[in-house]
Formats: sequence, structure tokens, C-alpha cells
Amino acid sequence: MANISLRSFIDIIDQQGLLQRVQRSVDRAWEPATLAKWVFQGLPDDKRFGLLFEKVAGSKFRFATGLIGASTASYAAAMGVKPNEINQKWVDALLKPIPPVTVTKAPCQENVLVGAEVKLSDLPIPTWTPGKDVAPYITNPVITKNADTGIQNVGVYRTQVLDEQRIVINLNPAGQGTRNSRTYTDKGKPAPIAWVIGGDPAMLLAATAKLPYGVNEAEAAGGLAGEPIPFVKAKTIDLMVPANAEFIIEGEIEPGVSLPEGPFGEFAGYMGGVAPRPVARITAITHRNEAIYYGFTSQMPPSESTIMQSLTNAGVILKQLRYDLGEYTVTDAWIDLNYGGAMGHAIIAMDPRDAAHSKRVGVLLATMTSLKRVTVVDSDVDIRDPEHMDWALNARFDPGNDLVVLHGEGQFAHMDSSVRTVNGRPAPASKIVIDATKKMDTGPFSLPDKAYMDKGLALWKELGLPELDPPKRALYRIAQS
Ligand SMILES: Cc1cc2nc3c(=O)[nH]c(=O)nc-3n(C[C@H](O)[C@H](O)[C@H](O)COP(=O)(O)O)c2cc1C
Repeated sequence: MANISLRSFIDIIDQQGLLQRVQRSVDRAWEPATLAKWVFQGLPDDKRFGLLFEKVAGSKFRFATGLIGASTASYAAAMGVKPNEINQKWVDALLKPIPPVTVTKAPCQENVLVGAEVKLSDLPIPTWTPGKDVAPYITNPVITKNADTGIQNVGVYRTQVLDEQRIVINLNPAGQGTRNSRTYTDKGKPAPIAWVIGGDPAMLLAATAKLPYGVNEAEAAGGLAGEPIPFVKAKTIDLMVPANAEFIIEGEIEPGVSLPEGPFGEFAGYMGGVAPRPVARITAITHRNEAIYYGFTSQMPPSESTIMQSLTNAGVILKQLRYDLGEYTVTDAWIDLNYGGAMGHAIIAMDPRDAAHSKRVGVLLATMTSLKRVTVVDSDVDIRDPEHMDWALNARFDPGNDLVVLHGEGQFAHMDSSVRTVNGRPAPASKIVIDATKKMDTGPFSLPDKAYMDKGLALWKELGLPELDPPKRALYRIAQS
């Protein structure tokens, strides 16, 4: 899809029945987030929608959540593809990244607030886990930069509002945002940082991609959009920011300063703890006219966070396995939508070259990612179909021979309740690789020959039996019968 604004994307999902608008004024302290929780907890993937709140008490701006990540359908709409084309779109975008283009005039800077005009409470930043979160949180893409290379990074890091002009940001010590900001703060200098609220859907999708350090996600976003994403120089800091964002919050991380962050409702389904994290001072808020504040819903999965991270990183691992690591017999990848993106369960489909190949690829994937479980099946299994997966586990998996436990390889989130602690700190955990590919030729499937099945289908229609929409697993099996 060519680069489109958040506003045209809202029109697209509205037309597709993937959006609900709320006209009456809402209380940002609980109403938007609680309704979003009902969307994710109360509805299956194919019935969910994004929410656009036209009026938020105490703010002149509209508020939206779940626009991209309510469901597989809305995620696909953000890419301009059908749901079954998501992985291929990611692979193509990562193979042909397009660097951003610099512009000098930007919609995101139609209004520029600096000094005493900077008031975070003017923005409809919600409380995401009412009754439990310590404060309102910004849950949006964050831009940082390496001072030495000049290369920027985009990742989503939740950010707690402290007061009108200060925030504490959950920069994970192992993450790329931390690595970048330390290139400034280790030298005693403030590190530039910007939060991107809304804007090009491609940019928002790319923010959730786990790409190698030194790769600017904005290039992957250009690859997704098929054209460069326009970036403009920020007003008060030395960073380039997406020109079409609805809001940009500009700030500086203060060297040597940290404050307790949390509690906040976490992606794994529990409340996260409190830990010291870097503090930033907000130097400017810039925004479009009539701006829409779009925050990602996280907390109890499935959530917008898990759906976006899972669908994005399935495409990323497929590209990495096939093109960066030469495992071209891998045909498909899927990460379950119900846990923290690249931390949960991945299934890959492949055509193993030899008896140990599938196990090797499974171990490779488990080792190079934060995934806890990797299941490998043959490419004649529909990896998105739990019924077909269960059949493969029964028909092609011998626990004694086909299970690999990687002891001490896992570093799970502290809110994973299987985590043991040593001296109050999470102990290294384990991962599993399940190789559910065929180990021997088991002969033909126990279905009539394909010619009979085809004739049977014609007979079905002739008899006027109820309409049939055969699942992929049936088609795969019949094709081999
Ligand atoms: C809504 C949301 C909130 C997130 N919060 C955090 C966070 O606070 N800290 C973190 O390290 N990752 C968080 N993530 C995951 C990262 O955005 C993701 O792993 C990303 O790839 C990190 O970028 P990086 O690899 O460039 O550091 C969040 C993701 C989403 C969608």
C-alpha cells in the first residue's frame, strides 16, 4: 500500500466495518481502556474492531486504540493486503527497504508547543489498567539515535507520565533504545528521544519489528509502503521524526537520573513490578490540526500489542530464516497471537532436507530469538489451524525422540509465573523445540483418491447439500490423496 495517513486508514477500516466510533465524552482515567479490554477479552479475532473516541473530557483531541492491532483483518488492512499475504508483504519489505526522505514542512508540526505551553495533560493519554496502573502511560513508537553512527532506531517502549513535562520510560536495559541513549548519557550528555503518536500505518507496523541493531525500522516502513516515509527535523532536539505523525513528543533523557517505573499492566497478563528507569524532560509537543491521539492497547493478551508483535515478527523470522540464514526450505512462519509477540510460541513449516534438518532449524530459531516454544511441521500442515497442528503432533511427533529442551537458554519476563528466582532475581529458564515433521514415509492418506474426492464434490453440489467451504487442511490432504 502506498504511504497513507492515519486519517485515510481510519476511513478504510470504517468502510470495512473494522471501526466503532464513540460520540459521547469519555473519561480517559478508565472508559477508553476498559472498553478496549472488552473488545479483546470479549470478542474473537474476526469480530474485533478499533475504537475512535470523538470526545475526551478535559482534552480537545480525539483518542483511538486498536486501529491496526484489533485483529488480523485490521493489521492486513494497514498493510494493504489480504490476511494470508501478511508474511509475504513483510518478506518483500525487508528484502527491499526504502530509506526515509527528508522534508522541511510537515503536518506533524502544524502546531508547536514549547516551554510553559508543554502540558502532557492536554493530550488524552489514558490509564490502561484502571485501578492498578500507577499513572497514565504513553504506549507508542519511540525514536532514539546512536550519537556515533547517527543511525536512528524505532521501538515501542511504554512511558509513564510523571507530571506535565517529565516522564519515566521503560527502556529495557537489553533493548536498542537503551543502547542508543547510552551513546549520549554515558558521556554525560542528554539523549534525544521522541514519541510518535499516530501517522503512517507502515511506520507504526515497523516499530514492532525486532530488527538487528543498526537497522532503522523507518527503512522497513518504506519497504512496506513502497515509497520513502517522509521525515522532518524535530523542533527542539537533534532527531528526524515522521512528518505525518499526529503528534510528536520531543524530549531529552537526563544523564544519570532514574526513577521507579510501574506498576503497569503487562503483555503477559499480569501486573509488572517496579524498577528504576531513565527519566526524560519533554522539550516540545508538536501536532497536526485536529490531531487524533492513537495509543496501542497492551496488558492482558490477546491485545493490540501481542497481535502486532506476533504478526510482524512472524514475517521477520521468515525472512531471516530464508534469506539471511539460507534456510530456504522454510515455507511459512506463525507466532501465536496470545502472548508477547516474539516471546511466545512460533510454528514454522518447512520441507526438511534430511532427518535432522527440522530439529536444527527449530533449535536455531529458538536460540536466536526470545521465543519460548518452537514447533516445526512439514509444509503440508496449515500452521494457523489448531486442529491440523494437533493432528501433526499426534501423527508425526514422538516426545522421546523429537523434543529438544534448551536448558538455561530462556530469559523470561519476570511476570511469567513459571520463572524461578535465585537471590531474588529471575533464574535462567528453558525453551522447547518440538519437531513434528514426518520421520518416515507413512504412505498415502486414508482418503479416497483425489479424482474421487473431486467427483464427490461435484455430486455434493448436484444433490444441493449445504454449501461447503473446505478448510486448508482438507485441501492439503486431498491434494496428496
Ligand atoms: C504496546 C507495546 C508496548 C511495549 N512496551 C515495551 C517496553 O516497555 N519495553 C520494551 O523493551 N519493549 C516493549 N515493547 C516491545 C518492543 O517494542 C519490541 O520488542 C521492539 O521490537 C523493540 O525495539 P528494539 O528491538 O529496536 O529495541 C512494547 C511493544 C508494544 C506493541
